[in-house]
Amino acid sequence: MRDPEITRLSYDVVVVGAGGAGLRAAIEAAAQGARVALVCKSLLGKAQTVMAESGIAAALGTVHAGDTWQAHFRDTLKSGEAQGNWRMARLLAEEAAERVLELETWGAAFDRTDAGLIQQRDAGGHRYARLAQVGDRTGLEMIRTLQMRAVQLGVDVHMECGIHRLLTNHGAVCGALGVRQGTGEFLVFRCGSLVLATGGGGRAWKVSSNAQDHTGDGMALALEAGAVAADLEFVQFHPTCMVHPPNLRGTMVTEAVRSAGGVLRNALGRRFLFDYIPARLRAETASTEDEADAWYDERRNRRRPPELMPADVVSRAIEAEVKAGRGTAYGGVLLDIASRRSAADIRRLLPSTCRRFEQLSGIDITRDAIEVAPACHYSMGGVQVDPQTGATAVEGLYAAGEVAAGPHGASRLGGNALAELLVFGRRAGLHAAAHSSKRALPEDADVSGSLKVLLQPFNRADGESPYALLAELQACMHDGVGLVRTREGLEAAIEKLNCLEMRVSNVAVPGARVFNPGWQLALELRAMVVYAKATALCALEREETRGAHARADFPGTDAAWEGTRIVVRKTAEGLRTSRERLPAMPDELRKLTVPDELKALYEEHYTWLQRTSSSGSGAATPAAEPSRTTG
Ligand code: FUM
Repeated sequence: MRDPEITRLSYDVVVVGAGGAGLRAAIEAAAQGARVALVCKSLLGKAQTVMAESGIAAALGTVHAGDTWQAHFRDTLKSGEAQGNWRMARLLAEEAAERVLELETWGAAFDRTDAGLIQQRDAGGHRYARLAQVGDRTGLEMIRTLQMRAVQLGVDVHMECGIHRLLTNHGAVCGALGVRQGTGEFLVFRCGSLVLATGGGGRAWKVSSNAQDHTGDGMALALEAGAVAADLEFVQFHPTCMVHPPNLRGTMVTEAVRSAGGVLRNALGRRFLFDYIPARLRAETASTEDEADAWYDERRNRRRPPELMPADVVSRAIEAEVKAGRGTAYGGVLLDIASRRSAADIRRLLPSTCRRFEQLSGIDITRDAIEVAPACHYSMGGVQVDPQTGATAVEGLYAAGEVAAGPHGASRLGGNALAELLVFGRRAGLHAAAHSSKRALPEDADVSGSLKVLLQPFNRADGESPYALLAELQACMHDGVGLVRTREGLEAAIEKLNCLEMRVSNVAVPGARVFNPGWQLALELRAMVVYAKATALCALEREETRGAHARADFPGTDAAWEGTRIVVRKTAEGLRTSRERLPAMPDELRKLTVPDELKALYEEHYTWLQRTSSSGSGAATPAAEPSRTTG
């Protein structure tokens, strides 16, 4: 094979990934005057963000005037079961509304209320209707708007280009090495700062709502460069994804269907979710069909239908029904909107979902129920970043969006991913631009060693097939690191992943570099195995059930684990986990996390605690403890 051609390019800021976070980061960096490259594996616009259909969570208060950032903050932390980074949860809740309004000034056409304000829909775990919506294609409208803006600002877009190495100089990131798929040419980007916005690694599971290119690249690149990842054990499974036909298995059916009145029934016709309401959600969840149905009419001061419980609760309930033999022929349950809404309403509220089913599977959802089951959807964990700036532990390296660990903790609310992309994408772009402006562009890097490694798959006569290894990896994650885990299953998965790690370095690919998807997969597999293994190690370590992380052998939430994060880093001996405490939340924020119904009781205790602690050392007589019957 000839020596590979290398194209060398220089920018102030390189953003890897062109979903919502990458585009928003690129826009902000360009707005600061930086020369920006946006590098993506797919075509521009073909982002996972498009699949977030229901809306962007933001306390605009257009439907429920009572909504505030404080209420959004509380819902976010509550859903994360005290594991979310509260600094990021606060920024998310405080800034999401401004980011949505800004998107509107850039041309996003949100749906309207009768009063002409941005329409907001309900979603599981949000106390108020909070998801700013564009029908059931909010993510698509967001990407369309952001990409127009990025192009207007002169961002250079490099499409169909995978980044396979970060280049460092004295420990600081100074560029990246990539391959342009169409030509097979190597690209060396030199830059002052680099933002990772590569999304998650959901393709490592057999059944996934993620696009093909979600292969954990950013997580692996960051770990290899010396960054730290956190919360990886928390992997969200979207409850309602298609199970049939086989080529569409895992395609997400938006929560907007349930928000519009869709209910879930098992194969016997029972609305089974009433049997799975956990104690912590009983106060806010309807316990009978009549009560649940009344909510759809009034949407205020009533308990919400169980279909709008958090994703992890609904997903596990579906899996339990199927395992108990009450599932459908294809191993799912039935999502029924047809019997609940008029055909005209369904077409008006869910146009994309109707069209997708009609065109792809010949199903008319205005007449028939849909078979659905959980699929791997979103990683709450990721690269650990500074909440304000998105900076990782490596100088010059920033991360935003799903690739970063953040505000969600143990579970994520629908709509919070889109909000996160805008809020933290902007922050990462802003600070990456500021950092690069203080740094001279690094020297051209020597990448000959890395090129040899990337080209190795062509030099093996009889190595392994990347496609066979991918299938084994996906089966391993599905079986051992799925919706419900056990020590035994996780240990077996880690053993298998150790073995796959070695086999991945013996992959062989026929043909040449030009348009060679096998080669691209061979390079992606390296990242996927790192991400998968890091996830399995964290899942093994957390011996409790919390949010999306369910352990059949540790079925309860253990208070001893509260506020403890598992972090993972790459060492000379391989991936290693350790534990960190989340910083304590200040009292004024802690107060916000108390539900309205308990506020009076909390205030009383809080005042009592303050009086007690200010009454001096243990010698002083504490104030009388308040009565426990209040509230
Ligand atoms: O169901 C949905 O539309 C998914 C939204 C999300 O992942 O935030």
